Amino acid sequence: MAERIVLKDVKKTFKMGEVDIKALDGVDLVIDRGKFVVVLGPSGSGKTTLLNVIGGIDTPDSGSVIIDGEDIAAYPESRLSAYRRDSVGWIFQFFNLIPSLTALENVALSLDMAGDRKDMMERAREYLEHVGLKDRVDSFPSQLSGGEQQRVAIARALVKRPRIVLADEPTGNLDQETGMTIASLMRDICSREKKTFIVVSHDPKISSLADVVIRIRDGKTYEG
Ligand SMILES: Nc1ncnc2c1ncn2[C@@H]1O[C@H](COP(=O)(O)OP(=O)(O)OP(=O)(O)O)[C@@H](O)[C@H]1O
Ligand SMILES: [Mg+2]
Repeated sequence: MAERIVLKDVKKTFKMGEVDIKALDGVDLVIDRGKFVVVLGPSGSGKTTLLNVIGGIDTPDSGSVIIDGEDIAAYPESRLSAYRRDSVGWIFQFFNLIPSLTALENVALSLDMAGDRKDMMERAREYLEHVGLKDRVDSFPSQLSGGEQQRVAIARALVKRPRIVLADEPTGNLDQETGMTIASLMRDICSREKKTFIVVSHDPKISSLADVVIRIRDGKTYEG
């Protein structure tokens, strides 16, 4: 069976005092392996919740989240934690690098935490080369531009060879041109490494790079 992500009638409600917020209101989705998927939708429509459910950070109230044939929504916590650690790479709007670690150490930490320490530093260095930062491996985040920091974060997400990469507004904190360069870099990695990317973005230029565009509104998704 082809590796893919299937969501079936996924619901997630947050209770805020008296009010129920339906962050995901019956989402059905199929995402084939290796696709570059862009998720568009207004603020509060459920984009981050959708990524969190696919990434095993939020558990849905009901429905299935089937990753390569297995329903992670039914996993016990220990298996879910292994899934989060080994199978999912994250890229965030504000990069979330550790300021006291160099670029190389930030990337290597991802392998260290996954317990995958063989040739850790060499592999981290290799991934920083892939994202064009060969000469900046010993720089600290504060010494790097926003675009360079996001390249480090991309290397950090990919070095552990996850099956799925989830990016929550990865260009939201970059200028237009840098944002487009970063988006194109992710698109290239997606094609080259045949990894599934799910990218939340407000930028229509990024959706022009997508294989699939998913729109979300009030917790309901629409394709196209
Ligand atoms: N942990 C939580 N507790 C309470 N409400 C939450 C929680 N997480 C999300 N929500 C609510 O669920 C809805 C969807 O939130 P979500 O963060 O998924 O939206 P979003 O599309 O990512 O928005 P944005 O573009 O502003 O990041 C919002 O109304 C939000 O306030
Ligand atoms: Mg969000």
